[in-house]
Amino acid sequence: MTTIQGPSTARLLLDLEPVAARELERHLGTAREWFPHAYVPWTDGRTFDGPLGGDAWSPDQSAIPEVARTALIVNLLTEDNLPSYHLEIAQMFGRDGAWGTWVHRWTAEEGRHATAIRDYLTVTRAVDPVALERARMVHMETGYANNWDDSMLHGLAYVSFQELATRISHRNTGAASQDPVCEQLLARIALDENLHMIFYRNLLAAAFELAPSATMRAVSDVVQDFQMPGHSIEGFTRMSVQIANAGIYDVRQHRDQVVMPVLRQWGVWEIEGLDADGEAARSELDDYLAGLERAAARFEQRRAERAERTALLAERG
Ligand SMILES: [Fe+2]
Ligand SMILES: [Fe+2]
Repeated sequence: MTTIQGPSTARLLLDLEPVAARELERHLGTAREWFPHAYVPWTDGRTFDGPLGGDAWSPDQSAIPEVARTALIVNLLTEDNLPSYHLEIAQMFGRDGAWGTWVHRWTAEEGRHATAIRDYLTVTRAVDPVALERARMVHMETGYANNWDDSMLHGLAYVSFQELATRISHRNTGAASQDPVCEQLLARIALDENLHMIFYRNLLAAAFELAPSATMRAVSDVVQDFQMPGHSIEGFTRMSVQIANAGIYDVRQHRDQVVMPVLRQWGVWEIEGLDADGEAARSELDDYLAGLERAAARFEQRRAERAERTALLAERG
């Protein structure tokens, strides 16, 4: 990866400000108000042990499959780290004008995601609330920092993919829960994530017009280096393998449903007038995508083989 060149952050913020204002308007006109409390089945709840002397948690209190519980924990802990994400985007976009309005609006919308998921999990006793709280403490104490602190274009590219990735992951976690209440809640959250993705994606499309080569460099670097926002959760690697094997978020979905649709929307293969580094960035991206396709095919093959083995073993009893 090369040193980042192109327009300064100050220049980009100024030049993109009218686009941010337009996208903010569009967002506010499209987003529908919703209420986390209305998605939680409160009558299913009862008091826990501790100061109020209720019943302790045990795994048999919920019928949610193990892997869906794991995905719910990862999704919630990811949402929990909002203060760190707020800091990142406030530093990146600043607090002035449409940028500042977006930073606070986005933060307010994200804030209800953790509230809603935690309320649901606590009321339905789907996960161990003590382990969950301890994991939240560890995760938030670690904090989050993106790898591209010094480049707004990299930051914008990252959030475009990341919002879509969380949308897919919430939606598929809801389906895997086999609980219509959980599915309805996560589908609602996924709608928010989708609107966030559109805001960032449209801004980055405008950046491609202003600074095609620097934007191509940013997109290429970010795709090659992509990590989920929750990657610093303790045990993330182990949990993400389970999540991938269950088809909630795997390399095939990452390639086909997140990376490729966004790249196509930007028309990265049609962009003209790139300088030498812009062209180099695009060809690195192509090489990386070819490798990602091979990894996705390998992953699918291994998963199919494992499923076949499991079925044969079950037949034998
Ligand atoms: Fe969220
Ligand atoms: Fe979001």
